[in-house]
Order: sequence, then structure tokens, then C-alpha cells
Amino acid sequence: MTIGLFDSGIGGLSVLKKLIETLPAHYVYVADTMRAPYGTKTSDTIEVFSREIIGFLAEKKVERIFAACNTSDSTLVKYRGAFKIPYHSIIQAGVNASKYDRVAVIGTHMTVQSGLYKHDLEARGKKVIQRPAQLFVSIVEEGIFYGNMVEAIVKFYLEPFRKFKPQELILGCTHFPFLKDIIARLMDNVRIIDPADEIVREVSHLVGSGRSFVEFYVTGNPEEFERKLKKIGFKYPYQVKHLEIAELEQKVVYFERACDIDRVLGSG
Ligand code: DGL
Repeated sequence: MTIGLFDSGIGGLSVLKKLIETLPAHYVYVADTMRAPYGTKTSDTIEVFSREIIGFLAEKKVERIFAACNTSDSTLVKYRGAFKIPYHSIIQAGVNASKYDRVAVIGTHMTVQSGLYKHDLEARGKKVIQRPAQLFVSIVEEGIFYGNMVEAIVKFYLEPFRKFKPQELILGCTHFPFLKDIIARLMDNVRIIDPADEIVREVSHLVGSGRSFVEFYVTGNPEEFERKLKKIGFKYPYQVKHLEIAELEQKVVYFERACDIDRVLGSG
């Protein structure tokens, strides 16, 4: 089985790690580090980037696609019902994982601005508070997961949630689980939701086989990406390759192999 994942950088590794533990497969992971971060760009821009990456994965003949990036996923809502290659939405997984009534959500600027988590959770009768925590993406990409500075930054972003007394906090960006220990300590008695756990449950009926292997395609510096893989102790066999942006841009034509565009246009 060949499975595709994508993110702006190492955030999606928090999804890949959980997936690979459950489902042995051949993984193709695109890390668009050259054009990262995604969360501060416009929705139209990220929709185009996401379509290019999905086109790339479709050409690689992946059998399933996991949005290991909430920001990308937030730009792809209109395509959700039209995917021909099964597509797993990380945002939908996060919403489905919620059990309680008072929910706090953190994500990138764009994910929060999209209002998707808020809308879908409120539609289930929940009270929702949300806040962007974009700086978490930068510290995680820098490989800084612990220490006083991280604690101060996490506190700065999460302190305003206290008054709301959330029962749950959704980590609405795949970079954030790298800071989960510190977040959990500061949000005492709050259930911390990593949507990756739910996305893994979605495929628990699938049976993989053999030994997993990961092909990483990195648009930025592959050596730097590999250093990060080593730093987080990524222990599965892999290969890191460079992917030119110019080449990736051309793959947008294959998006239609993954998604029935006519159905999207027809419904719009
Ligand atoms: N890890 C991504 C997410 O889940 C994107 C972070 C970024 O590039 O801003 O939203």
C-alpha cells in the first residue's frame, strides 16, 4: 500500500509517526519547506500549493492521502466530497475526536481565520474559543521543544483560555504535538486532543504488510530536513530527496486524478 502525506515542514511527522506505528506501508511525504510557513499566507495561495502537492502524490500513485497539515486542509473543504483517492481531513478528525462541550482550539493564523473547527464544533452544540498560535510553528521548526523560552511562549498563547475554562484543547496544527508536554502541564485538567490519534483510528480497519519505508520529498534544503529527522529520533527506514518548486508546480495538472473537479464546479 502506498500512502501520501504532506505538510509545510516537520509538523506532519507527528501524524506520520502515529500512522506508521499502526499501518506498515510505503509512505510518500512532501515537506514544502521552501514555501513554509503556510499559516501566514493567503488561503488562495495555499490552495494552489496543496493542489500541486496532491497532484504530485497522485502521479506517484498513492492509494490514500492524509492532510498532515490543518492549514492546507482548511483550503480544501470544497473538494472534500469529490476526492477519487480517499482523502483524510485532519480537521474533520479533530472535530470528531471532541467529546466535551467547552472546547478551545489553537492553530495557525489561516486555520483559525477559516473558522472551520469553530463552525463544525458549534454545529454539534459546543461552546468554542479559538486562537492562533503561529509562533509555535517556528519554534518547532527550529527544533526547540523544551525550556524556559518555550514555556513562556506557550503560556503567552494559552493563558487567555483560562477564563473560558475549556474541557478540551484541540491541537489544530500538526506542529503543535511536539510541544504537547508543556501544553499539557499548563492546561492542567484539560483533555489535549491530537487529531492524529483520530485519523489513525479512521484507518484501523486497514491491514498493512511488510516493513514501512518513507520517501521524503523536500522543496527546501534536504540536508536540513534530515538533521531534523535525526533530532526527533525518526527511526524508520527512509530516503530524502529534493523536489524543485518548478517541478512541483507542473504537477497541479494531476490534481484531477485525485479529485473530480467537475463535481466541485458543478456543485458550486
Ligand atoms: N503544520 C501545519 C498545520 O497543521 C502548517 C504550519 C505552517 O506552515 O504555518 O497547519
